[in-house]
Amino acid sequence: MPAQADTPSPDPDAVGRVLLLYSGGLDTSVMLRWIQEQYEAEIVALTVNLGQPDEDYDVVVGKARQLGATDAVVVDAREEFARDYVLPAIKANAIYGNGYPLFTALGRPLIAKLAVEHARRTGCDTVAHGCTGKGNDQVRIEATVAALDPELKVIAPVRQWSMSRDEEIAYAREHGIPVKGGTEAPPYSIDDNLWGRSSEGGEIEDLSEAPRDQVFQLVTRPEEAPDESQLVRVEFDRGCPVALDGELMGLVELLERAAEIGRRHGVGIVDHIEDRIVGLKIRDVYEVPAAAIVLAAHRELEALVSTIHQNNFKRALEDKWAYLCYAGLWHDPLRTDLDAYMESANEVVTGEVTLKLYKGSVTPVARSSRYALYDRSLASFGESGAGFSQDASPGFIELFTLQTRMARRVRSHQGDGGGTE
Ligand code: ARG
Repeated sequence: MPAQADTPSPDPDAVGRVLLLYSGGLDTSVMLRWIQEQYEAEIVALTVNLGQPDEDYDVVVGKARQLGATDAVVVDAREEFARDYVLPAIKANAIYGNGYPLFTALGRPLIAKLAVEHARRTGCDTVAHGCTGKGNDQVRIEATVAALDPELKVIAPVRQWSMSRDEEIAYAREHGIPVKGGTEAPPYSIDDNLWGRSSEGGEIEDLSEAPRDQVFQLVTRPEEAPDESQLVRVEFDRGCPVALDGELMGLVELLERAAEIGRRHGVGIVDHIEDRIVGLKIRDVYEVPAAAIVLAAHRELEALVSTIHQNNFKRALEDKWAYLCYAGLWHDPLRTDLDAYMESANEVVTGEVTLKLYKGSVTPVARSSRYALYDRSLASFGESGAGFSQDASPGFIELFTLQTRMARRVRSHQGDGGGTE
């Protein structure tokens, strides 16, 4: 028996037309019927294409209509996602925690922005989403909706209804909602787009076990990757990747191609324990072949063209940028402030980096840039070149170490004196 839902909120009388962020999966399909029942509201279903591999959008739209949506649309937002969300993340070398390139976190503010625009266009007063109460995605979506249109109401049915997975399936059967794969609930909670894929739940929650092979639906297991390594050359123009192996292409295509090459070589597998914004620690398994390639190349090139001071300074800003994105604070002015710095630092990130891919590893092996702060004749052990005076080094060492030497001397004398003045 499906559990009874808690009292709906917001007040059903205040809800006339609902823009539902619809993925076609079990939760949002059950939601499509549940909202019609609980709120007696019309539903407009919106599905956003951010480059999820193997999604059949005609099927998704058909399903929404069949379940009673007044209108169902798919927006192909891959270009906007790549240009306005993934590209700034590349310029910021954005990684949260110990290796998460933020693909979900980058997608949510765009999905929410499209929901707001579409709600306005179709006369909806409310946005509904399928996030649970335990995740970051609810924060990201609701933060964006509230920032862009504070008048819009939000419904998050999964947070309200007290249905277990089995009860949801029973509800689906009762209401004629097709359940993919029979009664079997999918083993993991999946989210993906062109920048990566995440799996959570099921036995992934057991921290003492390695993820099963069946988790990896995107990246080849490194053990099964080709025995031959492959070189891939990534070219950048002011921080933006523009060509692969000498072939110029648009960003979406480049990211999709990089993912394709990377997945073959087993690169971009991350087994991650994550500090969620809502306080929980959660384990995620990420497959991020495109990010593994593009970020490795970008970091390498940037390090070559930036000064030691820029390189050291930027890392702290990158962490801050990644945190804001992770936390759903895309619309905080600090993010735009940081972007201004990232843009400026990336003005000279032009050139190319060759990476070697081999059974799960990505290693930069060659790089070149007209902005490289590198002069072979200065760096070479073989030459005593004109521009670098080795005679000056002893004086440099003397001054550079002055305070360190003095501190050691002063403090060791204090120790001799018994520690009292
Ligand atoms: N832990 C990641 C994050 O918070 C991935 C979340 C994936 N979302 C999902 N609905 N399965 O960004």
